[in-house]
Amino acid sequence: MTASSLDSSGLHGLEAFEERIRGALAEVLGVPAEDLALDRPRQAGHGEFALPCFQAAQAAGRKPPELAAELAARLQVPEVEARAVGPFLNFRVEGAALARRVLQDALRPDFGRRRRTRTSIVEFGSPNIAKPMHVGHLRSTVIGAALARILEHLGHRVVRINHLGDWGAQFGKLVAAWRRWGQEDRLEADPIGHLLALYVRFHEEAEENPGLEEQGRQAFQELESGEDNEARRLWQRFTELSLREFQKTFDRLGARFDHVRGESWYEDRLPGVLAWLEGKDLLQQSEGAWIVDLEPEGIQTPCLVKTAHGTTLYATRDLAAALSRWEEFAFDECLYVVGNEQKLHFEQLRAVLRRAGCDWADRIEHVAFGLVRFAEGKLSTRKGRVLLLKEVLDRASELALEIVREKNPGHPDPEGVAEQVGVGAVIFHDLKHQRTKDVVFDWKEVLSFDGDTGPYLQYTHARCCAILRKAGRPVPDFAALRPEILAEDRELLTALGRFPAAVREAGDRREPSILAGHLLRLANAGNAFYRDRRVLGEEPPVEDARLAAIGALRNTLGLGLGLLGVPAPESM
Ligand code: ARG
Repeated sequence: MTASSLDSSGLHGLEAFEERIRGALAEVLGVPAEDLALDRPRQAGHGEFALPCFQAAQAAGRKPPELAAELAARLQVPEVEARAVGPFLNFRVEGAALARRVLQDALRPDFGRRRRTRTSIVEFGSPNIAKPMHVGHLRSTVIGAALARILEHLGHRVVRINHLGDWGAQFGKLVAAWRRWGQEDRLEADPIGHLLALYVRFHEEAEENPGLEEQGRQAFQELESGEDNEARRLWQRFTELSLREFQKTFDRLGARFDHVRGESWYEDRLPGVLAWLEGKDLLQQSEGAWIVDLEPEGIQTPCLVKTAHGTTLYATRDLAAALSRWEEFAFDECLYVVGNEQKLHFEQLRAVLRRAGCDWADRIEHVAFGLVRFAEGKLSTRKGRVLLLKEVLDRASELALEIVREKNPGHPDPEGVAEQVGVGAVIFHDLKHQRTKDVVFDWKEVLSFDGDTGPYLQYTHARCCAILRKAGRPVPDFAALRPEILAEDRELLTALGRFPAAVREAGDRREPSILAGHLLRLANAGNAFYRDRRVLGEEPPVEDARLAAIGALRNTLGLGLGLLGVPAPESM
């Protein structure tokens, strides 16, 4: 079943015309409407939709241009003109109808909202305790939070999970390091800083002193024993201190979770998972460890589920998590927003589930993303050269404050708006790139007010707010408008009218950059509109119609920014 066949109703903006066109075509061509995919015309001015006639012509044994011309003559679509251009059939919505439909929809607070019935788990954020969040976790948080909001706008029931990295052999090492070098006063003053220093020191000294590794392993066995021992109490304390720090960053990024469930949350289920695999005859011993062979699924690397020392692994815990989520939520899709470098891990996870006969295995989806690169290349915690997420956000906020002070010296709350602009700029910069691509971070570009940036969108939104403030009255009611006055303002109308499709595509393809790109085009159209058209001081029906267009622009930009997680201040 395709996602769109689940939409019961609620077609907004241009989608309403698209549906009409597909319906009419389906009837004339005698094919199901679902099979008809409309493109966009290559040239501006050729309308909003196009049907390339090659396929239909082949099926009918005709020449594409001939069929296009015949269809243009025969088709009757209310408020839409059809015209053949070579092998293409182009559709142009009549200006007045376009204005009416788009204004009516784009003024609604639920513009683009759908009513699908799907349950989507979105797992994102997922930092590791006792280490600072780095820019990779920024990407996961920003992309995951945006996808969660977008899917919710499409009507999905969304469950947000933070899969905290709080279990594994490294915490045995941390406990061992604490026992040797831990200092209470330093832990109090800067918990994550001190824990990171211990971790780094452990790795440095372990190179000379192999006995350390053994102590780390023992400590992890103490942890995995499930007993309430000293190791566990230390670990609990490290977890709480870390969570408190993470929360500050999640708050700044506007990310919230329904469940913070670390890897340790699945601890009780791990023996059950191993027994379950055993029962399916999937466990195999290899050099003392236990593996699941994945060659039958075409994957060369087996999945390691239990070490020779008897401890479980990252993959074991992910199996437990997937099974538990399936039992609890019966999800239609479970999205893992995690970097490209874990591709193999998620392929293995799916393959083990498939081998175990879970027919829902393919609902597991790795929503991968590329690295963030600063001048120095990939940053690793082991060597201690981390670029802290907090520092990135602080710096963005500081730089934004300089810009706000310069552009708007009289602003009543420069610090507040600078935080919104700075953090919003970082978020938007991340989301405008196709997620699987690496992102190069350049401060000048991130914060510019007039490139393809967050501040540019925020500024356009604030301009609309200023015009409406200046009008000194609410946005006129749609019922009282003469929308046909806007019939010539097609660029703005189509950009508004395509917003619902952009949200839908961004959700279905797990690609917030589709929405980000659309908002930039919308802002460009909006800027052109208020540059070329006088809004205030025109004859009443004209002023009303243009003011409504500004209201629709403000509403749509505000909604879109909100879905991406970029704050939309009313002045800046
Ligand atoms: N904690 C991991 C990291 O920072 C990411 C966890 C991803 N989620 C998962 N279910 N494996 O790399």
